[in-house]
Amino acid sequence: MGAEGRADRAEGARPQADRRREGEIVLSRDTGSLGADNADNADTFNNAAIRPIPAERIAEAHELESLCYPADQAATLEAFRYRQATFPGFFLGAWEGDRLVGLVCGVRTDARDCADVGIKRSHGGRTDGRKLCILSVAAHPDRRGQGLATRLLDGVVSAAKAAGLAAVMLMSQRELVPWYEARGFRATGLVHAEHGGVRWHDMRLDFGA
Ligand SMILES: CC(C)(COP(=O)(O)OP(=O)(O)OC[C@H]1O[C@@H](n2cnc3c(N)ncnc32)[C@H](O)[C@@H]1OP(=O)(O)O)[C@@H](O)C(=O)NCCC(=O)NCCS
Repeated sequence: MGAEGRADRAEGARPQADRRREGEIVLSRDTGSLGADNADNADTFNNAAIRPIPAERIAEAHELESLCYPADQAATLEAFRYRQATFPGFFLGAWEGDRLVGLVCGVRTDARDCADVGIKRSHGGRTDGRKLCILSVAAHPDRRGQGLATRLLDGVVSAAKAAGLAAVMLMSQRELVPWYEARGFRATGLVHAEHGGVRWHDMRLDFGA
């Protein structure tokens, strides 16, 4: 499918996020409306609940990261612990019942781009930055191609907007640039070559506040 088709589908499928309870976003893929209030009911793929990953599930989240990214691109467990402890509202999982099948996470920053944030490593620095840098987007290999990562991305973008941040940034592999563009991001033209032997393209979504 070309970029145009992706855009059409993404636009049509993009659900609205709501925050009924502190820290919880439940998105229904098919209707774009809220899924079940009780996440225990959200145990099928189409109604997978998008909600924060708690500290006690970080090891499992890191296993998923390691399954999805090559070793030289995957975040360390230490980095995951840091991100979850410091930015729990931006460390979201896709849950089929109690099973974690996808994740997205990021850190607040005032850095110009995510390369300065220290991709995949522990992140020191200020925690009150006005931008969110997304550092991981991953869907379990058994659950790909069904919109899961799109919903995770929507969830974390909604959380950033709700927190009053100015923009969301990330670094994308070249082949995924159209995927992010179809989901509202624009390529800034900056490319970095430092991480895992991959050329990373900067992507950005401004809220225009
Ligand atoms: C990329 C990833 C998160 C997508 O998850 P997903 O749940 O399958 O994504 P969605 O179902 O929302 O979207 C699927 C679309 O992404 C496209 N896509 C996924 N991986 C791709 C790749 N490597 N190159 C090009 N397109 C890709 C699919 O072709 C599909 O396109 P379509 O919508 O036109 O059919 C998942 O493949 C993954 O975990 N990959 C490993 C980690 C990774 O690379 N993360 C992104 C880092 S920038």
